[in-house]
Amino acid sequence: MCGIVGYIGKRDAYPVLIQGLHRLEYRGYDSSGVAMISNTGELNVYKAKGKVEALEHFAQSKDLNGKIGIAHTRWATHGEPNDINAHPHCSQSGKFALVHNGTIENYNVLKVALLKHGYSFVSETDTEVVVQLIEYIQDTNNCSLFDAVREAMKQIVGAYAIAVIDRDNPDQIIAARQSSPLVIGVGDDEYFLASDATPIIEYTNKVVYLNDGEIAVINRGEKLHVFKIKGETETSINITELKMSIEELEKGGYPHFMLKEIFEQPKTLADCISGRITSDGKKVVLSGVICNKEKFLNANRIIIVACGTSWHAGLIGKHLFEDFCRIPVEVEYASEFRYRNPVVTDKDVLIALSQSGETADTLAALELAKKSGAFVFGICNVIGSSIPRATDSGCYIHVGPEIGVASTKAFTGQVTVLAMMSILIGQMKGTIDKATFEKVAADIRRVPKLIKEIFKMDSQIKDLAKIFTYARNFLYLGRGYNYPAALEGALKLKEISYIHAEGYPAAEMKHGTIALIDDEMPTVVIAIKDNVYEKTLSNIQQVKARNGRVIAIVTEGDDVVSKLVDYTIEVPEISECLTPLLTSIPLQLLAYYIAVNKGRNVDQPRNLAKSVTVE
Ligand code: M6R
Repeated sequence: MCGIVGYIGKRDAYPVLIQGLHRLEYRGYDSSGVAMISNTGELNVYKAKGKVEALEHFAQSKDLNGKIGIAHTRWATHGEPNDINAHPHCSQSGKFALVHNGTIENYNVLKVALLKHGYSFVSETDTEVVVQLIEYIQDTNNCSLFDAVREAMKQIVGAYAIAVIDRDNPDQIIAARQSSPLVIGVGDDEYFLASDATPIIEYTNKVVYLNDGEIAVINRGEKLHVFKIKGETETSINITELKMSIEELEKGGYPHFMLKEIFEQPKTLADCISGRITSDGKKVVLSGVICNKEKFLNANRIIIVACGTSWHAGLIGKHLFEDFCRIPVEVEYASEFRYRNPVVTDKDVLIALSQSGETADTLAALELAKKSGAFVFGICNVIGSSIPRATDSGCYIHVGPEIGVASTKAFTGQVTVLAMMSILIGQMKGTIDKATFEKVAADIRRVPKLIKEIFKMDSQIKDLAKIFTYARNFLYLGRGYNYPAALEGALKLKEISYIHAEGYPAAEMKHGTIALIDDEMPTVVIAIKDNVYEKTLSNIQQVKARNGRVIAIVTEGDDVVSKLVDYTIEVPEISECLTPLLTSIPLQLLAYYIAVNKGRNVDQPRNLAKSVTVE
């Protein structure tokens, strides 16, 4: 969580920093701040509680000149969101300013030691300890800022991406990373620094992804230097060319990123599939899988680790791999898996599923599996993020930047990649027959068009949302492939509307949850024509018999369910294994419109952040 930005070069730093903070606001929006060294040598620090807009308002009458600066948008961990706890934090003498994304585990021990040395603290944050430690090291050793930061990084335990500036040296930024992302944009005699590439892309497409344990010296107008924090040698710099466009980072006329991202899905899924299913529909080409064929063919088990929406996609992956590859699959919450003592062997394949590629628990879970010899495969969206860099191999979902905190297009991208992988591995193993392979492959290619069909019901879903905006609880039921879709529908509603919603396997409801049903609790049932269709009809009747109000997602042309329920939304027919790609679309829209009706901040719901880099 938290986003950091930095700039050094010929431009005025402030507009670059503010625009960068807006791009990174999805990572946290409790407070924000900037620190700039003015052209006359003052270190000016401005901070404000709340969104970046509040900072802009606060700073408008201040001295904003300067060609070097750092900035931060915060998702609070240590200390409540207020102006004092906002970053940047300054050292006691006011000489250094620092921004930090991550958490320092041993900050208390360091703080006690620094207090003994006469340092005092103004904030409750772990970050302030880091900047004071840097000053203490420099004062006692009379060393350069680079040496002081390097020594401080050796002493701290935890996760960090930091950037530090020195009032007395307006020509340098020092940056370092351990377990939190940091990207350096390389322009023409200028450098940009950010937690991801989105603040950088409008200035340069050349970036360097800092690796864990590295420290960068960014001097104005000079070559970039990167060193290992532990060790003396300079490391070679690998410049990557970004393929992202600015349009992908704008709302494009939509009121919210979430709505844009929902409506983008026909295109994003076409991009995800592009070049991966041959034109005759007989082959799937996923080089990360093909190049590691033996690992998949010899796998005793697949373990999928993920969090949140990605975990729901993982549950669908379990059905797919078990159906088509006949490999046992376990789907684990990364946060549970990493703190257990799981039995993992070199015959296991672990799939780390993550939109951001930065989720701390997922990253830690894959590291744990790696140590036990498992083959580790990543399915991520953000190119160059930490998970793809830590895995043995993988596959990007290629759905473009997802900015709304509620995941939509990444979910359908993940399910699409899992579907392609499962039929490919099934074909390699001989566990899927030719006709099924070709039918599923052809249906995957139909998905973008079918989603467009569903969008024709947009206004119907909007009307439905008006009816149910005032509900206080919702139940979402689904079975088989659509049980995870029910979980995902409930999560979407919860996170953006703050209405309590529970996803449940439809048949399991009668073992307790059915007690909640009355005419005030709407139930959304995914009742498409699958192998448990008849059973789902019984579940609907059980809800109706208790005066429940039912919204059903049904297969196009179904006139049986519509007679039983209060409202229906139709989705086109497709291979059963791909139905969650369609049923999830009306659920995304329903959640979106209810949240809008409730006046919620859809793209930045309270207490959440897009990229969860804390444990
Ligand atoms: O980036 P990741 O896919 O690893 O993120 C996992 C979850 O934090 C994420 O899916 C979260 O649950 C979303 N807010 C759901 O919309």
